[in-house]
Amino acid sequence: MEADNIVKKLKGELDEYLKNYMQGKGSYNRRVYEAMQYSLNAGGKRIRPILFLLTYKLYRDDYSEVMDIAAAIEMIHTYSLIHDDLPAMDNDDLRRGKPTNHKVFGEAIAVLAGDGLLNEAMNIMFRHCIGEGQNSVKACSIISESSGAEGMVGGQTVDILSENTRIPIDQLYYMHSKKTGALIKGSIVSAAVYAAADEKEIEKLEYYGQKLGLAFQIKDDILDVVGDTAVLGKKVKSDLNNNKTTFITAYGLDKCREMCNSITNECMDVLQEIKKDTSQLQELTLFLLNREK
Ligand code: IPE
Ligand code: IPE
Ligand code: MG
Ligand code: MG
Ligand code: MG
Repeated sequence: MEADNIVKKLKGELDEYLKNYMQGKGSYNRRVYEAMQYSLNAGGKRIRPILFLLTYKLYRDDYSEVMDIAAAIEMIHTYSLIHDDLPAMDNDDLRRGKPTNHKVFGEAIAVLAGDGLLNEAMNIMFRHCIGEGQNSVKACSIISESSGAEGMVGGQTVDILSENTRIPIDQLYYMHSKKTGALIKGSIVSAAVYAAADEKEIEKLEYYGQKLGLAFQIKDDILDVVGDTAVLGKKVKSDLNNNKTTFITAYGLDKCREMCNSITNECMDVLQEIKKDTSQLQELTLFLLNREK
């Protein structure tokens, strides 16, 4: 339970940082900040920046010095959600329990709000690296690569191409490991690199991040079928309505539940191999398996 409190504390600090970050910014362009803030502060789980901070904390005590990078990761993730919900993509009208960005601000501003969040994340990371050592640059480079065409954008591309057709299993794995897995893995590995973890442990954390990212998206697919819109904060059956290929269409619900369990076990095993106190990461991993939103 102690771990649970630390996760709550980190989430509170992140929420606060993100709430204050854009306050008072803008002039003629204020509308884009309003749209950025609207989605950023709508109440996400903050899983990626929490994973970043918990991993950093395995090696360093003072995580407050990388809070800005954690916030940048959440900005990238929030941008991906705004664009994911657009009519040209998943065409969803509910996100984090509120009308989607384009429903409130219109499509053009929603596109710009996504662009603005992505660029603000890059601004934060560049500014952070000024005067810091090589490890900070390596870490930020991992984050930006995991968001791009070889990472999240690549996965989202395959996701869109998978509509109204059935893609082969290897492509399905590519899609999940990139669209969701890449930024989750990147959040973990970048923190380990920044904190100068040894090579062997970085490899183990990379494996953990890869498995966790996969389990996370399978669970997301499960919740799309069996979840409750009021709890999830987004409409269920979105995948079905868009005729997507998902782990559910490929394997069925029972097998997906089984896969989530067994991949989570693999995550737990590898965390136990790491010679640090990974109990907080372990609790979070189990929480993600059992989550209802
Ligand atoms: C939803 O991510 C989109 C995926 C990549 C599966 P989250 O489930 O982390 O959404 P928030 O940030 O809590 O709203
Ligand atoms: C989204 O996958 C992955 C992103 C990179 C945003 P989904 O389209 O399944 O995410 P939700 O279910 O809308 O949150
Ligand atoms: Mg999508
Ligand atoms: Mg979607
Ligand atoms: Mg989904």
